[in-house]
Amino acid sequence: MQSAVTRQISAELRRRLAKASNVLVLTGAGVSAESGVPTFRGGGNSAVWKGMPFDVISSATMVRRNLPAVWEWFDYRRELLKSLRPNPAHQEIARWQKRFADLSVVTQNVDGLHQLAGSKDVIELHGSIWRSRCQDCRSKIQISRTEPRAELCLDCGESLRPDVVLFGEILPSGAFELAAEKAGACELCFAIGTSGLVYPAAGLPEIAKAAGAYVCEVNPERTPVSDICDEVLTGKAGEVLPLL
Ligand code: OAD
Repeated sequence: MQSAVTRQISAELRRRLAKASNVLVLTGAGVSAESGVPTFRGGGNSAVWKGMPFDVISSATMVRRNLPAVWEWFDYRRELLKSLRPNPAHQEIARWQKRFADLSVVTQNVDGLHQLAGSKDVIELHGSIWRSRCQDCRSKIQISRTEPRAELCLDCGESLRPDVVLFGEILPSGAFELAAEKAGACELCFAIGTSGLVYPAAGLPEIAKAAGAYVCEVNPERTPVSDICDEVLTGKAGEVLPLL
């Protein structure tokens, strides 16, 4: 007997999956939810760190005012992430690299779980919690899962900050432009586990749709993206993606 989720998948989507060569996947916090990473929206509680709401501690202003506090918060989050593993959604997306000739994975997540699952060349729109960046020369340093992170830039000796897009900051140059180019060229676009509220990332399915792609959403809830989708698959990413 077919599951309720399987019944939602149209013959049209199956046909397109079978013949597509150029596919774009946009992911948000929901794709990591089943790994145990809390989402930003939905579920009621917004994150608070030592009495500061998430958008205060994770802000450009706080980097200027109190960089050690920002690091303390990011060190804490990295520590939590260390024990979390990719879930079936990350694993399925990583497998799609072999299935489609040209697969672009564009993520708003900073947790590195797509890469841990084996995805290559992930376009990270909001940076990575596993990298730091020099405040002066902007050189980037990978943060190890096992070694303590560097305090100062190895190139110029200036202080480092998390290489993550914080509230009040613009996206890293080139990342969105590349993602938009890929969105404009894909045949099939998936928006997975994103509330579709934060631009410019939320505009990628619109770009794909305007360029003629078939757009499909995977999310347990409706979002503003649902309205422009050709197909909405209601359910958890880790349960829906393996059925495709
Ligand atoms: P949100 O927290 O805004 O939205 C998470 C979405 O995932 C919601 O629509 C949920 O319904 C959905 N969801 C929850 N569990 C799911 C599951 N198991 N499978 C599939 N979907 C599920 O996260 P984003 O859209 O990623 O930016 O948020 C966008 C940006 O807002 C973040 O990157 C962050 C934040 O400000 C920065 O930090 C710069």
